[in-house]
Amino acid sequence: MSIITTITRMWLTKSFRPFRFTNEYDSKFSYDDCKNLGLYVHIPFCRSICSFCPYCKEIYDKDNCNKYIDHLIKEIKMVGENQKEKRKVTSLYFGGGSPALAVDRLDDIIETIKKYFIITEGIGIELHPYDITIPILQRLNDAGITKISIGIQSLNEKFLGILGRNNFDMKNIEEALSAVAFETVSMDFIFALPNQTIDDLKADIDTAFKIGANHIAIYPFIDFTFTNSTIKPMNKKEKRKLLDDITIYCKNKGYVRNSIWTFAKNGNEKYSSMTRDNFLGFGCSATTLLKEQFKINTFSVNEYCKRIDENKLATSLTIKFTLRQRILYYLFWTAYSTKVREDDFEKFFGVPLKKVYGFELWAAKIFGFITENHGIYAMTLKGAFYYHYYENFYTLSYIDKMWETMRKEAFPKELSF
Ligand SMILES: C[S@@+](CC[C@H](N)C(=O)[O-])C[C@H]1O[C@@H](n2cnc3c(N)ncnc32)[C@H](O)[C@@H]1O
Ligand code: SF4
Repeated sequence: MSIITTITRMWLTKSFRPFRFTNEYDSKFSYDDCKNLGLYVHIPFCRSICSFCPYCKEIYDKDNCNKYIDHLIKEIKMVGENQKEKRKVTSLYFGGGSPALAVDRLDDIIETIKKYFIITEGIGIELHPYDITIPILQRLNDAGITKISIGIQSLNEKFLGILGRNNFDMKNIEEALSAVAFETVSMDFIFALPNQTIDDLKADIDTAFKIGANHIAIYPFIDFTFTNSTIKPMNKKEKRKLLDDITIYCKNKGYVRNSIWTFAKNGNEKYSSMTRDNFLGFGCSATTLLKEQFKINTFSVNEYCKRIDENKLATSLTIKFTLRQRILYYLFWTAYSTKVREDDFEKFFGVPLKKVYGFELWAAKIFGFITENHGIYAMTLKGAFYYHYYENFYTLSYIDKMWETMRKEAFPKELSF
């Protein structure tokens, strides 16, 4: 456990109490009081497994995938039936895995969701480059999907090789994207790979926008301890320089940074399943964030189906937040958008942000991490780098440990950080 995350947690929550997750869970729960509620559906199947990838997934098998989706639909009904009336939600995101492998079943899932929820800001889906064909895109479009995010990772053969990913034909991708239109076409890249330079990244960014993206996400490579990756992470100084250079390059091109890692061509394109105040997650490893709790489903497809067969939710671990823990969680993920608004915070918690963290905000301004303008705190370049630096500790201290345990045990008894 990183000493840095422990000290920060104690300082910011003003308590020695750790984040404690247990296997007790509410079989019925209400989300009546959750504003800005989003939905997430996880489809954990891939054509092949990438050595660097930490997410919950297994090799695709048609029968297994169909069986999983039958159970997923049942889980949506179990949670949806908690509400008396149809509930408005912002967006629905499909992630994975490679959810397009279940393209034949997306209609079934969306139809079930629409029995209980009204989606107001569109539906998004994560795609593998191999999914970018005119027939698949057309089916996604027909199913009502408005945003796609393509896991390109790199457009350079050398870095694809380092990542152990096969090459793909950019011409086919460009053709398919020009034939079927989506509101947001985002492309994911991984940076800070060995010997990667800003020129390599500039070339990828330019090509991405040229072949049809209107939004990009550039994630720093994270070396999760439980993956089989042999990639050596870049040192702090080089990584900082790359992140600053990417940001300056995108800003000079007129792209709008709408989160730590994402840039939009015109400013209004959005693809983010993370920066939402509350969300309900369905499927293996999916997480649910409510006003007072956060829970995560089991990572095991078999155990997930067994639980649902018993008419029980497949929740693996739950944390009931203290108020300070919830505030910290809110700020961490809101800061991901690079901006925190005083008004939004006060609406959510009923207390002014300055009353809770007046000293910390003052110190962050003095150190040049943030600026303040009419109640909006915005991250500076330096702030964005240190946020990333801290997020890396957070990811390796909390997420890495939790996911490693959950990959081995379907329903661990307890986890404390
Ligand atoms: C769940 S993956 C899904 C994308 C799709 N299945 C694909 O691989 O093309 C979402 C994104 O997480 C990012 N990612 C995966 N492993 C990562 C790692 N170790 N470090 C940084 N980013 C990672 C990749 O950019 C990837 O596109
Ligand atoms: S990176 Fe994408 S394709 Fe590769 S294993 Fe992860 S989810 Fe599957």
